[in-house]
Amino acid sequence: MTHQNTETDAPYYRQHVFVCTNQRPADDPRGCCHAKGAVALRNYMKDRAKELGLADTRINIAGCLDRCEFGPTVVIYPEGVWYTCRTKEDVDEILARHVVGGGRVERLLMSPGAAAAHK
Ligand code: FES
Repeated sequence: MTHQNTETDAPYYRQHVFVCTNQRPADDPRGCCHAKGAVALRNYMKDRAKELGLADTRINIAGCLDRCEFGPTVVIYPEGVWYTCRTKEDVDEILARHVVGGGRVERLLMSPGAAAAHK
């Protein structure tokens, strides 16, 4: 069920950006987004979204999104678009081109067929 703003009947948030910050043991063969700097990237994204006035977009911490090998993993809904986001420059580009502009950052897209190695 989608949460609706009762006054306007619009969704409460236009978009949700989920940033995986899951941490695994250092010897886990799948690795994890936490070890690739995901916490700092998520915090930077949240700060930048606020600076840009993106009050209708929620930047959320997520647990494991099961695409660990390709992380740091970011997925944006309602579009369901997945990104590998490694740097602050990647964050800036995702916010500018996707969240604000409605486009896609082709160079950072996670391929739909890029399944986790354990599957
Ligand atoms: S640890 Fe980030 S997708 Fe699994």
